[in-house]
Amino acid sequence: MEQEVDDRNDAVGYSTDGDVAVVTIANPPVNALGYAVRSGIVAALERAAADPAVKAVVLTGAGRTFSGGADITEFGKPPREPGLSAVIRHCESLAKPVVAAIRGVALGGGLELALACHARVAAPDARLGLPEVKLGLLPGAGGTQRLPRVVGPEAAVEMIVTGTPIAAAKAATLGLVDGIVEDDLVAGATAHARALVESRQTPVPVRDREDRLAATRRDPSAFEAKAKQLTQRTRGLEAPLACVRAVRMALDTPFDEALSRERALFTELLDGFQSKAQRHLFFAEREATKVAGVGREVTPRPVARVGVVGAGTMGGGIAMTFANAGIPVTLVEMNREALERGLGVIRKNYDLSVARGSLGEQERDRRLALITGSTRYEDLAVADLVIEAVFEEMAVKKEVFGRLDRIARPGAILASNTSYLDIDAIADATGRPADVVGTHFFSPANVMKLLEIVRGRRTAPDVLATLLGLAKRIGKVPVVVGVCHGFVGNRMLAARSAENEALLLEGALPQEVDRAFTDFGFPMGPFAMGDLAGLDVGWRNRKSLGRTAVIADALCEAGRFGQKTGEGFYRYEAGSRRPEPDPWVEALIAGKARERGIERRPIAAEEIVERTLYPMINEGARILEEGIAARPSDIDVAWVDGYGFPVGKGGPMFWADHVGLATIVERLDDWHGKTGRELFAAAPLLRRLAADGGSFAALGRKAGAGA
Ligand code: 3HC
Ligand code: NAI
Repeated sequence: MEQEVDDRNDAVGYSTDGDVAVVTIANPPVNALGYAVRSGIVAALERAAADPAVKAVVLTGAGRTFSGGADITEFGKPPREPGLSAVIRHCESLAKPVVAAIRGVALGGGLELALACHARVAAPDARLGLPEVKLGLLPGAGGTQRLPRVVGPEAAVEMIVTGTPIAAAKAATLGLVDGIVEDDLVAGATAHARALVESRQTPVPVRDREDRLAATRRDPSAFEAKAKQLTQRTRGLEAPLACVRAVRMALDTPFDEALSRERALFTELLDGFQSKAQRHLFFAEREATKVAGVGREVTPRPVARVGVVGAGTMGGGIAMTFANAGIPVTLVEMNREALERGLGVIRKNYDLSVARGSLGEQERDRRLALITGSTRYEDLAVADLVIEAVFEEMAVKKEVFGRLDRIARPGAILASNTSYLDIDAIADATGRPADVVGTHFFSPANVMKLLEIVRGRRTAPDVLATLLGLAKRIGKVPVVVGVCHGFVGNRMLAARSAENEALLLEGALPQEVDRAFTDFGFPMGPFAMGDLAGLDVGWRNRKSLGRTAVIADALCEAGRFGQKTGEGFYRYEAGSRRPEPDPWVEALIAGKARERGIERRPIAAEEIVERTLYPMINEGARILEEGIAARPSDIDVAWVDGYGFPVGKGGPMFWADHVGLATIVERLDDWHGKTGRELFAAAPLLRRLAADGGSFAALGRKAGAGA
């Protein structure tokens, strides 16, 4: 092959292999389609068009991937020509066939570019998708019009509204790729391009293909049903609905007009708050993995085998998480009975996935085989990482860590899943505090994405590096936090919940409070959540601390523990998880208010938000002051990935900037004056930022620069 890299443009390579030109996008790490790439592709295509010796073009990506799409860092900056749509037009209208050779990912604009090629071939492990919706956007360079023309409107609307990429094999079944190349991808694509040339049939550009649209145009009912199902639970997000609108245009709007309307919808979303919030979260999740003192020079420890102590709610879910990622786990319990119970729950959970069709039987068996149960601590000697998930009691934790210290191999990481307890005190129970760390998973551990990594005073940097890498392997989003009661998430949750009882006594009903939360975009309100988790858990905890909660205690005394007893803050019909407002609870609340001489009054959603979310943001500010979180965006990631804070609002600190810090301080001051409660006393950092016209975003940029 003649290698001839265009020295005018480093971002796109050009070479020829006989009569085929090979155009290679080379913009690490993900071959994003920034300005240099776009202009480089146009130049390369022009060069191929002008060379009479070139009969066809292969378009591919250097390194491990085809392209991760538009360069997200360019969004919001003045556009530079050629735009992606112009590149795509150029490619689609080239008189010589262009074949996309896809390895790694073709995402967003990357797939839109591939759709403008005359054929696509892929490596077996390639993944293709239009994930724009996850950034609060829709595909804005023809994806909503070309994808339905290739895979049909129903498959297209599913890919675009969920944003979930599909594997090469599925892409082949759908007709999205024309061939899978097992070994040399570019050679395979070159052969494919030559075959197209030799067939002497000019391939029809995707824009002119109407065959896959015909059936849906005749009868759109299946498409409409699919679209409805996909947008049933969008919780106020605009992008999924815009995606459906755009795909529908493929059915009834001429191609060019549909393209310009797609572009208009894209721009509208791009300028809106939700997309800004979702793009903030995209970068925040990646920023969170950059931790002070844990640079590239720190080598992670290898983790081939994991131990988990305690096979209860959390231990079982944690064991599944590792098995799901193909990592063998030894699960240790106190006795046979507890072990069998724990393993039984794991089996039942996997069986449920098989019954639902989301897991194959073979895969289930493979995962189950990776989990070895035991009642002998000695069996943990082979583990590179041991995670403790026993009862939340310091004495028990210390006893377990003392035993682990005697048994674990040198260099093994000893982690605790504690929700609140002091990791430094736990580390004191061992002779190796540098190896001790918190790994706080969220329930259900095999589902929730957040992993709070609690950095103790003496935790070694390579322990943190190991867990950051491991989090990615097991599909978790890590946030490193410092030691304090409840760390970042649960500490802020306590601040969010502190007014719950007062709101009820003063006049709100559980369903009104919950409604304010779901209207805000949370999947569930605090009372429905309490019923789901079990009210007895908090009750026992309060009793042990000598605390009380008027309404919640009364419910528990009446045997109402939530969903598990069919009654809690709500009523549940037999077998149903739907909370029904309960007059009995309303009477209880009214009675307790009367006893206390509280005159109940209507409470607006706005007040509910001020008395729950503002104190939570205030607590976030304290957490930043104390250095428990390194930057505001880490808090946003924790709340979105661990507690269901709506993605369209970007997390509590991002949303706080949007509301205006001065407004928040003013409202906190007002409530502090009315109630005298410490909860509303504005944190000095928050007050200072508000007074200086500052924001958490600006504070985060400073933190980022210093990290
Ligand atoms: N633009 C700019 N930077 C990007 C990017 C993009 N599209 N995709 C990834 N990056 C950056 C990340 O910020 C990160 O930077 P950092 O190292 O400085 O933190 C770096 O590339 C590596 O990213 P990851 O850590 O995520 O790498 P992975 O290998 O784990 O994943 C990936 C790679 C699957 C491509 C993943 O990064 C991803 O999902 N990217 C976003 C894909 C996407 O949403 N594309 C659509 C863009 S919108 C679009 O195309 C609009 C069009 O329709 C007009
Ligand atoms: P659980 O009560 O469901 O399970 C604890 C298990 O540990 C029990 O099966 C018990 O038999 C076992 N155990 C107790 N002592 C042991 C010992 N010495 N050796 C071996 N096994 C022992 O409790 P859960 O909910 O799983 O909580 C475990 C830990 O995870 C606690 O620290 C909790 O605070 C934390 N956590 C809990 C969350 C939740 O939502 N339940 C969420 C995040 C953290």
